[in-house]
Amino acid sequence: MKKLVSGFSKLSKSDKIRWIAENFASEPVEAERVLTSFWHSDADLQRVIDGFSENTISNFPFPYGIAPNFIINEKHYAVPMVIEESSVVAAASSAAKYWMSRGGFHAEVISTVKLGQVHFLWKGDFQKLQSVFEDLKQHLIEDSADITCNMEKRGGGVLSIELLNFTNIERNYYQLRVSFETCDSMGANFINSVLEQFAGTLAVFVATHPIFDETERELDIIMSILSNYTPDCLVRAWVECPIENLSDEADAAYFAEKFRKAVRIAQIDPYRATTHNKGILNGIDSVVLATGNDFRAVEACAHTYASRDGQYRSLSNCTIENGIFKFWLDIPLALGTVGGLTKLHPLAKLSLEILDNPNAAELMQIVAVTGLAQNFAALRSLVTTGIQKGHMKMHLTNVLNHLGANALETQDAAYFFSDKAVSFTAVREFLEISRVKVEVLNGKVK
Ligand code: MEV
Repeated sequence: MKKLVSGFSKLSKSDKIRWIAENFASEPVEAERVLTSFWHSDADLQRVIDGFSENTISNFPFPYGIAPNFIINEKHYAVPMVIEESSVVAAASSAAKYWMSRGGFHAEVISTVKLGQVHFLWKGDFQKLQSVFEDLKQHLIEDSADITCNMEKRGGGVLSIELLNFTNIERNYYQLRVSFETCDSMGANFINSVLEQFAGTLAVFVATHPIFDETERELDIIMSILSNYTPDCLVRAWVECPIENLSDEADAAYFAEKFRKAVRIAQIDPYRATTHNKGILNGIDSVVLATGNDFRAVEACAHTYASRDGQYRSLSNCTIENGIFKFWLDIPLALGTVGGLTKLHPLAKLSLEILDNPNAAELMQIVAVTGLAQNFAALRSLVTTGIQKGHMKMHLTNVLNHLGANALETQDAAYFFSDKAVSFTAVREFLEISRVKVEVLNGKVK
C-alpha cells in the first residue's frame, strides 16, 4: 500500500527522492541513483534551477542543438533549438541552407499588442456605466500608476481599455478588455498585476460613484488575468524566389505546384492542418524553449489563431504568381528577451547571446522564421522523397545507441540500412549477426 504524504514540499530533496523511490519505484535504489545522477555538479546553479518550480527532485535533460546558416533579413544567425524529436534540427538546418542561396528568409513584426481581461458580473444599468466610463478609465490609470510607471519609462504600458457587454449571451456578464505594450518582456506578471489593480478600482468606483443607486453598488469580480490569445502580437516570416530558382528539384515548376497544393490541403482540411501546424510548432517551440520563453502560451495562441475564421487551418500560406514562388507564415508570438527565465537560466541567457541578444521583436522574427523553415523542410520532403527517409536515419542512430552499438557497428549499419527499412528488430538482428561474425573472425566461435 502506497503511503499518502503530508508536508511533502517541506521535505529535503533527498527525503523527497527517498519517499518517491520507496513508494513508487520498482527498484528504489536504482530510482534514487537515476534521480540524483542528473543533479547539477554546481550546487548554486542547481538551487537556481530548483527555484523555477516546486517539489523539484531532479533535472530532465533535453538535447540542445544548433541550426546554423540562417539568413534572416540579410543577417546571419545560428539558431539554438531545444527538442527531443529527431530530424527537427536537421530539417531546420537543411531549410536554412536551401534558402541561404535564394535570398534568405525575411520577417517583419506587424504589431506587438498584448491583452488582458477583468471579467465581472453586475446587475446595474449598463448605460449609466457607459456614461461614466471615461471617468472610470481615469481612475484605473491613476490607481495603477505605481505598477505602470517603470513600463512607461521603457515605452510601454496600458494602451487602451474597453468595456464589453456580454449580457446577451451570459446574464450580468461584462468585461474590461485591456491592451498593453510590454516592450521586451513577455509581460505576464506586469499585465496580471495591472488587471488585479483595475479590478479593485472598478469595484470601488461602482460602490461609491453617485450615478449608481443602492441596488447597483455591488459588482462581483470573477477573475482578472491576461489573455494568451494575442492576435495583434503578430509577426510574418516569408521566403520567395522565381520558380526556376527552386532548381534543386528535378522539375522546379512541378515541385512548386505540388508544394502549393500541400499547403492548400492544410488550409481546407483540419486533420492535415493540425499535423502541418505541428510541424511549424516543432521549429517554433524549440527556439521558444531554448530562449526560456513560455511555449505553452505560444502553442495555445497559435492554435486559436489558426481557428480565427471558425475553422482550424494552416498557419502558413503559399502562392505562385507571375512565376514567383512565395511561402509565408503569420503567427502571433508573445515573447520576451528580458524577465522570466531569460536571464536566470544560463542556457536561455546563452541562447540569446548566440542570437546576438535580440530584442523581443527580433526574437519574434527569428522564431517565426524557424517555424517557417521547419514547415518548408517537412513539406519539401513530403511532396518529394517522403518523410521516412530522413526520419529513418535518425531512428537508426537512436536504435543503435539503445542497443549499445560501437563506432564500427554504427558505420556498418548505416551502409547496410541505406536501402532498407529500419525497425528495432531488423537493427537488433543486424547487430547480433555482425557480433557473431566478429567473434568467428576472432576465433572465439568455431
Ligand atoms: C513531425 O513531427 C512533423 C510533420 O508531420 C509535419 C508535417 O507533416 O508537415 C513531419
